[in-house]
Amino acid sequence: MHITINCAKSLDSIIEGRFSNEKDWKRVYELRAKSDAVMVGINTILKDNPRLTTHNTGNEPVKIVIDSRCRIPKDARIFQTKTIIAVSENAPKERIAEIKKRAKVIVCGRDKVDLCALMKELSETGINKLMVEGGGTLITSMLGLADEVIVAIAPQIMSKGVCFVEKELDAPIELKLKDVLKLDEIVVLKYDVLK
Ligand SMILES: NC(=O)c1ccc[n+]([C@@H]2O[C@H](COP(=O)([O-])OP(=O)(O)OC[C@H]3O[C@@H](n4cnc5c(N)ncnc54)[C@H](OP(=O)(O)O)[C@@H]3O)[C@@H](O)[C@H]2O)c1
Repeated sequence: MHITINCAKSLDSIIEGRFSNEKDWKRVYELRAKSDAVMVGINTILKDNPRLTTHNTGNEPVKIVIDSRCRIPKDARIFQTKTIIAVSENAPKERIAEIKKRAKVIVCGRDKVDLCALMKELSETGINKLMVEGGGTLITSMLGLADEVIVAIAPQIMSKGVCFVEKELDAPIELKLKDVLKLDEIVVLKYDVLK
């Protein structure tokens, strides 16, 4: 499976807020359309309630939410297209039954969703190109599994809010810069992850 992390952030790496401009959103929609699935953490759903669609740019990828305790609201906008909710064994059975009416539910991991096991299960179902959009907690957990990191940097310094990296990594991650785009005021940096 090829995993791309894509994120828009301020110059000081805050990701909480709106940083993309029109051209960058177009780039994001096209990247979604080229992906088999787009993944976010549950806090992003609870805070932003996104649909994560391609806005008719192309094929609509499957949406995946990492949600150990199955807290996703029944009326979340993400359910408007095909969705998978990944939960842990700790998720309440009645919540799982409720959400199964709206989405596929994968139980994976004891307390938190086991992301390595989930990636294996997803690739067995034909998901070969995965885009991870955030937030910071999920991005940090996925950095060790990612092949590509794309960041769109907006000309803002926020000083507080959720960060691109939200917890300490076991080891530094080395990247190789492969492309730089200038989309008006936004600079997009594309890196391969060196393994
Ligand atoms: N600028 C951008 O491009 C962009 C994109 C997306 C989101 N965001 C922003 O990011 C913010 C939310 O980020 P966040 O860091 O608070 O939360 P998040 O990454 O959206 O969600 C994190 C949650 O996912 C669940 N989770 C389950 N298993 C996990 C695992 N193995 N590793 C990591 N997470 C796991 C945990 O909740 P449970 O324990 O309940 O499962 C965890 O608290 C929002 O403000 C949103 O606007 C920005």
